[in-house]
Formats: sequence, C-alpha cells, structure tokens
Amino acid sequence: MKIAVLYGGVSGEREVSLSSGKGIINALTDKGHEVIGIDFNPDHLEEIINLNADLVFIGLHGKYGEDGRIQGLLDMLHIPYVGSGVLASALAMDKAKAKQVFRMNNIPLAKSEVFGISSATSTEDIVNEINNEFKPPFVIKPNKEGSTLGLTIVTDTDQVGEALNNAAASDDTILVEDFIKGRELTVAVMGGKGEEEALPIIEIIPKNGFYDYESKYAPGGSEHIVPAVIDEETTRKIQSYAILAHQSLGCETYSRVDFILSEDNLPVILEVNTLPGMTPTSLFPDAANSIGIKYDDMIEKFVSLTMQ
Ligand code: DAL
Ligand code: MG
Repeated sequence: MKIAVLYGGVSGEREVSLSSGKGIINALTDKGHEVIGIDFNPDHLEEIINLNADLVFIGLHGKYGEDGRIQGLLDMLHIPYVGSGVLASALAMDKAKAKQVFRMNNIPLAKSEVFGISSATSTEDIVNEINNEFKPPFVIKPNKEGSTLGLTIVTDTDQVGEALNNAAASDDTILVEDFIKGRELTVAVMGGKGEEEALPIIEIIPKNGFYDYESKYAPGGSEHIVPAVIDEETTRKIQSYAILAHQSLGCETYSRVDFILSEDNLPVILEVNTLPGMTPTSLFPDAANSIGIKYDDMIEKFVSLTMQ
C-alpha cells in the first residue's frame, strides 16, 4: 500500500511526534509498504492530495494533528486515515468536554473546573476563584495540550498565578483539577468498532517522582511495570473503564487512556489520548510488546483495522 505518514507538525509536542513518526515510518517500510513521510505543516496539503496515497497514518500529536482538524481535512479530501475521526479527536483533546462525556457514562473523575482566559478577565479574579474552590494540592494545566506541557501541581496557593500563566501560554482555557495521590496507570485500547480490547495495564514509576515531560521522553526517565500489579477485580474495572472511555468518545482503532489509582484503590480517569506516543520510550508499544505484539506488527494491525 502507498501510505503517507504525517509527523512533526506545529504543536508543542512536535519533538515527540518527530520520534513517533520515525518509528511508524520504519515499521511500515519494514512491512513492505511504499511510505512517504511528511513533516507536516499546512503548506503540504497539495503534496498530500497529489500523492494519491491509499492511506494516511497520522503520527502527529497535539494541536492540529490530534484535535480533529487534520482529520477533517482528510475527510474532505476523501483520504482514509488511521485512528479516530473529527468528533472523537476534538472531544478527547478538550479535556473538560471529554470529562462531561465520562461523567455521563459514570466513569470516576477528579473534581475539576475549566476557566477561560481572555483579555476581558483579570488574572487576579481567576486566581481568587481558583483559591476559593480548590485546596492544594491541585493541578493546573492547559485544557487542550499533551505530554504534561504547561502543567503545574500546585502545593501552595502562592503558586496559582504563575501556574496559570504557565498553562495559558499554550491554551486559552485552563483546567483545574484535584490532585489525586496514587499510582499512575495507563491502558492501551485497540480494535475495530465495538470490538475493542484493553491491553495489560501499565504502571508508570517516574524516576523523579512525577511523570513530567522529561520522565516521559528521556531514556530511563521512567520505569513501566506491565502488567501493573493490581488485584484482578480492580484490573478488570480499570480496563472496562478504558474501553468505555474510548467508545463513549467515539474513538477508533486505538487510543490510550490514563488513570490514577488512588490510595483507596479507586481508579480515576485523567484523559484519553487519541494519538498516543509511538516513540521508543512510549507506553502503547510497551503494552503491545507485553503480550507479544512487536512494534511493527502493532502498526500493521492499526492499518489492517482501518482497511477492514
Ligand atoms: N501526548 C503524548 C504523545 C501521549 O499521550 O503519549
Ligand atoms: Mg495526553
């Protein structure tokens, strides 16, 4: 098949995507496809149209790549692509909107609230509002961002102003969320519509105590324990929440669902990633590997699920 791989892009997660793209391109090439890698920016649209590719594999992360916009363009061009469509991508990228869907489906959540940042609202008012409604520790993050960019764990009310500016640098809506102390877990979900399966749960043990950008992508920055050592009943519960989260947003083919397992053994969903990282240190490939699915076969499986 002739497959165009879009990677790189213009979001804050560009560096991650360069690495994901490289892995995807190598895998598809090894599988015998004719692969054209495109470090994507909107100037390349004509190139994509002229390629006449059978399929596009989106290896982008974050804004414009993971949020439904490129998916909409490809829909208009009648070019099939791997992964979730416009609505699921846009919903998953907007953490606050996704939470509304999770709530409707009884998937447990941390208390959270979204704040709009505009020139009409004073930062001071928002800081006061946040401090009235949340007691540290809580998390301030951009509502539509990935890889923990712009995220602060607020442990003291004095930090709120700076945390707000930090998050507002990447998004004009800010999500404030109770910090749930517990174990950091993630679940890879894959399969055709209605037939999705959850892969073994991964527990992430970051070397520096928090799973931030560096521990996500620096080799050795975190340890992945797969399958996570969790009792059977809780494991099943988390995996079924992962599938429900994927399906309730309308995701397709694959996604990765992040959770915290609280100290009381209660799972709390954080978010769904519709284009999870595919770098050498990434979680989804590790989960697949743990059940004997090698990276190349996993990528090929996504292609065959799309062409079904
Ligand atoms: N947002 C990054 C790429 C991930 O979820 O893996
Ligand atoms: Mg994410």
